Amino acid sequence: MERNRVFNEAQSPIRKEEISARLHTALLGKPLLVLDQIDSTNRYAFRLAQEGARDGTAILADTQTAGQGRMGRRFQSASGRGIYLSLLLRPGWPLSQAFYFTAMTAVAVCDGLEASCGLRPQIKWPNDLLVDGKKLCGILTELKTAPDGTLAYLVAGIGLNVGQKSAGEFEDDIQSKAISLSMLLGRPIQREPVAAALLNAMDAMYARYLTGRREYLARYRKDSCTIGREILLARPGSGAQTAAKALDVDDRFALVVRYPDGRQEAISSGEISIR
Ligand code: BTN
Repeated sequence: MERNRVFNEAQSPIRKEEISARLHTALLGKPLLVLDQIDSTNRYAFRLAQEGARDGTAILADTQTAGQGRMGRRFQSASGRGIYLSLLLRPGWPLSQAFYFTAMTAVAVCDGLEASCGLRPQIKWPNDLLVDGKKLCGILTELKTAPDGTLAYLVAGIGLNVGQKSAGEFEDDIQSKAISLSMLLGRPIQREPVAAALLNAMDAMYARYLTGRREYLARYRKDSCTIGREILLARPGSGAQTAAKALDVDDRFALVVRYPDGRQEAISSGEISIR
């Protein structure tokens, strides 16, 4: 009895119908797969893609046993506490167009959160969503190329902290850096309306991907908490951090930085911390 009560409060599973009823997407979430547990929704999306799954397939899981973050890191995916969502997309764009997808997804996720919770996070380049300097959401986009080098498909993974009531519910290494919707809004949050809003906002972005880039770029810059800040920059594959000032985000969503010696560079991938 006691165990049931705890399960209902803390871990009620995501209800697919509660999401479907709120979707007004043209493409995304058709089909929508809602799982209790999976290793990683991104990995599962790749497996489904190999079997021919459709453009727009969306996968949500209540928990992930091997949630993946950027730079080979793990993404904490506690049961019942988050939205762990992956989208399989087969856009048919030239590969060069796909590299803006993560940044545009960051704006779309902000749109979805604003629509469902009245809360608009800031974007730490390239694609962490922060509120009060703490991470609310991470995005991991992975591309698959065909043997001829063209884009075969892409998988966009969104990990959003929702139900943690306090920092103590995160594991030690991120306790001081992570935050959840419940912590920010001071009340329990139903995941289904938020998941539906994310899918609706992603669908709108996907439909306008090629024609709406300038608008999304302008909004990316507006939502940025990186531009104008002193940062430490780590390039992929390098443990070293370089001090720089973030000057702007250019038309390709690259971060334009100035080093202490006055040199400027546009960085298209990497990781930053704000000093
Ligand atoms: C990051 O912050 O480094 C990116 C985190 C992305 C996490 C999401 S959760 C859903 C999807 N499945 C995964 O294994 N990762 C992404």
